[in-house]
Amino acid sequence: MSRLWFSLLIVAATSSFTRAQNETTGSADYCCTILASNPLVGERVTFPGQSAYNESVASYFDIKSRLTPNCIVGPESSAEVATIVKALTADSGSEPCQFAIRSGGHTPYIGASNIENGITIDLQHLNATTYDAATKLASIGPGARWRSVYHTLESLGVMVIGGRDASVGVGGLITGGGISYYSYRYGLACDNVVNFEVVLADGRVVNANKDSNADLYTALKGGNNNFGIITRFDMQTFVNEGMWGGLVSYPASTISAQFKALTNFIKNIDTDTNAAAIVMQMFSTQAGNNSLVVNSYAYTKPTVRPAAYDEFLAVQGNISDSMSLQNMSGVVGEFDGAPSFRVYFGTLSFANDIRVLEKASELYNNVLAKLQAEATGNWIAYALYQPLPPQYTKDSASRGGNILGLERFTDAFIVYQPYLSWEGSEQDALFQSQGAYLVDEIKQFAASIGATVEYLYLNYADITQDPLASYGKENVKKLKAVGSKYDPSGVFQNLVPGGFKLSNVKI
Ligand SMILES: Cc1cc2nc3c(=O)[nH]c(=O)nc-3n(C[C@H](O)[C@H](O)[C@H](O)COP(=O)(O)OP(=O)(O)OC[C@H]3O[C@@H](n4cnc5c(N)ncnc54)[C@H](O)[C@@H]3O)c2cc1C
Ligand SMILES: *[C@@H]1O[C@H](CO)[C@@H](O)[C@H](O)[C@H]1NC(C)=O
Ligand SMILES: *[C@@H]1O[C@H](CO)[C@@H](O)[C@H](O)[C@H]1NC(C)=O
Ligand SMILES: *[C@@H]1O[C@H](CO)[C@@H](O)[C@H](O)[C@H]1NC(C)=O
Ligand SMILES: *[C@@H]1O[C@H](CO)[C@@H](O)[C@H](O)[C@H]1NC(C)=O
Ligand SMILES: *[C@@H]1O[C@H](CO)[C@@H](O)[C@H](O)[C@H]1NC(C)=O
Ligand SMILES: *[C@@H]1O[C@H](CO)[C@@H](O)[C@H](O)[C@H]1NC(C)=O
Repeated sequence: MSRLWFSLLIVAATSSFTRAQNETTGSADYCCTILASNPLVGERVTFPGQSAYNESVASYFDIKSRLTPNCIVGPESSAEVATIVKALTADSGSEPCQFAIRSGGHTPYIGASNIENGITIDLQHLNATTYDAATKLASIGPGARWRSVYHTLESLGVMVIGGRDASVGVGGLITGGGISYYSYRYGLACDNVVNFEVVLADGRVVNANKDSNADLYTALKGGNNNFGIITRFDMQTFVNEGMWGGLVSYPASTISAQFKALTNFIKNIDTDTNAAAIVMQMFSTQAGNNSLVVNSYAYTKPTVRPAAYDEFLAVQGNISDSMSLQNMSGVVGEFDGAPSFRVYFGTLSFANDIRVLEKASELYNNVLAKLQAEATGNWIAYALYQPLPPQYTKDSASRGGNILGLERFTDAFIVYQPYLSWEGSEQDALFQSQGAYLVDEIKQFAASIGATVEYLYLNYADITQDPLASYGKENVKKLKAVGSKYDPSGVFQNLVPGGFKLSNVKI
């Protein structure tokens, strides 16, 4: 017994001695060495100074998120992802390695999908979209951007439920839910996944679907990166019919008319299953320093000016209008967020009540006044208002369910998102505090008139928010059970600091 312990100690001491010898700036360098010397994935590793490393870092949507990991590994298959996870979690005398999981890199809070003092697993090469006409399923890699998914599928006459912006990634959007223009007809993106291929904490590659690992299947639909690394999404498709879509901008003075139109649109949302709309308040120093309302209309049939938009279309005086019959890839190309800015997203849900909208607009104007007085350089301030009706998840349960808890809400509500962009780290506190101010003040006002809706859309949430808790106690319990079952040693809680962690949920 004592001899065994003694030799174990020797092994541990020797390996940590070797390690210390090879370390330069901490254990992450050692972890990179382990990966780089692995014959199966060594050539996928890039280091600071190499062009592939630089390009990966520069391709984060939010400049603040362009952290500099000790190395970046870009696997080209699920087997390589599995090898990487095994290498990073092996406890052969080494410190555990911290890592980040990155698909499209569009999350705008620091460290969601990147890391300092660690390794970033960049799934950009897992970007294929293939279609099987026999099963009518599309298989999509997590690192694909929606632009390429739609291009590929449109040429085959089909479409899937995904993002409304060309460059957003597949992996993050689906694991957080995924709101599409087609969601009234076909549901959220996550509910259109019939099978996830996932690399678990122990390096096993498994499928999660209605029949196999069904509890994991449900948890992945809203559960962020808490359970594994998804390496393929098999999604239901439907026939691509094209759409009438685009953006229409108006002077800010039309905001009350727009809000009235939006509340009525939401009240009548069941009368036309094809119509989607988003109202956005917008100010940009690069768009003439004018306050605007920019509306996104997307009708998921090739029909011009359908009656569902009558009240919106009655608002006169638009400044620009790009509405046309086009495909999804055309519509999403128009709605591409500005790169090269620092970005804040936050979110709140509230009842479809015009009083909250008017209050939100008043607060937005306060924020504009403050930023006009204090901000420097170029900046943009958006406030987005969009419907989330029960119909978005009506087929969820029959498809194996998701974990978002939306069945608690029997009325359509509004998902609100302040979206701020600016330049210079010295302005981070100013802009982030203004985003938080909007969320907090609107939340208080909604509560004061009984318009609270306890749901936070994870894909819009700031890291200071707790979207997983907003799924409800029962669902948090389910998530924790799935976590302990599939990741008993807590790899995705302890070694992957980015994302909304189950271990941090306050409920
Ligand atoms: C301009 C813009 C437009 C947007 N439009 C929409 C929209 O129309 N509809 C909508 O619903 N949302 C939209 N979003 C929000 C978007 O869904 C989220 O920002 C989403 O997280 C982006 O996914 P990503 O893969 O690009 O992000 P990443 O930052 O790469 O990943 C996001 C999170 O998911 C985790 N993750 C990523 N891939 C995997 C994987 N394969 N396995 C496990 N975990 C993974 C990451 O670790 C990270 O925590 C938009 C965002 C932006 C910036
Ligand atoms: C540490 O460095 C030594 C000498 O350079 C080398 O032989 C050894 O393989 C390295 N160990 C690891 C784990 O990188
Ligand atoms: C990568 O970026 C660094 C830092 O900006 C720069 O010094 C280096 O030249 C770049 N390397 C390549 C190959 O582009
Ligand atoms: C997938 O990524 C590779 C780089 O790994 C790139 O060359 C290719 O164009 C991408 N394909 C699609 C469909 O986006
Ligand atoms: C907007 O206003 C700022 C500050 O007054 C000014 O620096 C900038 O040039 C203006 N931009 C445009 C497009 O007019
Ligand atoms: C925008 O204004 C133009 C010119 O008045 C008009 O022809 C067009 O129909 C308007 N678009 C919308 C979507 O209301
Ligand atoms: C949509 O895409 C398909 C396939 O590329 C193309 O044939 C069709 O003309 C496009 N429709 C529109 C309205 O652009």
